[in-house]
Amino acid sequence: MSVVFVTFKIPDQGLNLLREKFDVFINPYDRLLNKNELIRAASNSDALITMLADNIDEEVLESGKGSLKIVANYAVGYNNIDIEKARKLGIYVTNTPGVLTETTADLTWALMLAVSRRIVESDAFTRSGKFDGWKPELFLGSDVYGKTLGIIGFGNIGQAVARRAIGFNMKVYYYQRHRVPSEVEKSLNAAYMTLDELLKESDFVSLHVPLTKETYHLLNENKLSLMKKTSYLINTARGPVIDEKALCQKLKNGEIAGAALDVYENEPKIFPDLLKLDNVVLTPHIGSATYETRSKMSVMVANDVIKVLSGEEPDNLVWKKN
Ligand code: NAP
Ligand code: GLV
Ligand code: GLV
Repeated sequence: MSVVFVTFKIPDQGLNLLREKFDVFINPYDRLLNKNELIRAASNSDALITMLADNIDEEVLESGKGSLKIVANYAVGYNNIDIEKARKLGIYVTNTPGVLTETTADLTWALMLAVSRRIVESDAFTRSGKFDGWKPELFLGSDVYGKTLGIIGFGNIGQAVARRAIGFNMKVYYYQRHRVPSEVEKSLNAAYMTLDELLKESDFVSLHVPLTKETYHLLNENKLSLMKKTSYLINTARGPVIDEKALCQKLKNGEIAGAALDVYENEPKIFPDLLKLDNVVLTPHIGSATYETRSKMSVMVANDVIKVLSGEEPDNLVWKKN
């Protein structure tokens, strides 16, 4: 019987589908596997279901040579996998696009509203018993409705974030390498901009690009300097897209009004100064973390594993998309 190894326990919907057909082994620990454990798993399995924090590099893939047929990443981003090496070895790599789009867009909006209306600070204040009555200038923040939203990376999630902006009567600017069809621009009331223009004009800047060699530190010190003093930066994409140290400096100096981050440059480590700032909201990489979506993702990875181990092409092969 074929062997499927899952590097972290995922919801049962997907696991149950796999258990009907294969021997399924699940990492028994409540922690990520280390390199040696990943190597051992790859060398003993026909399929690996991996997490976004597993570094599936050349060495891990090599150890699967001969037996490993698919690495199904339990995420839409796949910057953690050496795609070229996998392709050379004939190992399929799949991801989970689409099912998590709206969920991640919802979190992006939760962060936008939380940072601009100071929800986390206000909550701490209220719990600590400091609320002694309504005051005209208590916890003043910034409006979201009617403002300008700049979206960097206008794919599935970027566009879902833009759809929500219509209800807030926002002006939407977007930047990525290719322009989307004019019908899409029109329906989302979105205008194409250069990255520099977008950063100069937006009140909220939200990142939705994948992490690649090109997007590493896309927002470096120079680019961050283009943002307005009154603007907010939201990152639910990948940490290394921003130079976290430079961002921290700007937040400290009041050169940017605030930031809300779900992802970090050296995840799970967080730049220590960031933890001390009041004008930031921090969540632990929970973009797709709802019961509904994580279940759908588990079914999606299971289906692709079933397809490949039955000799078929998977539905969500990553290298056909670019
Ligand atoms: P997608 O549909 O592929 O959209 C990504 C967009 O980024 C594309 O439209 C692409 O357009 C643009 N892009 C790619 N390279 C670029 C570059 N060098 N410069 C500028 N734009 C570039 O992906 P998605 O489903 O929206 O997901 C986006 C990312 O969000 C994922 O890769 C993942 O890392 C992250 N994510 C995070 C969470 C979370 O839990 N926080 C959850 C889901 C996803 P062009 O090709 O025209 O440039
Ligand atoms: C989450 O970060 C994902 O890429 O799915
Ligand atoms: C605030 O609570 C108001 O009534 O304006």
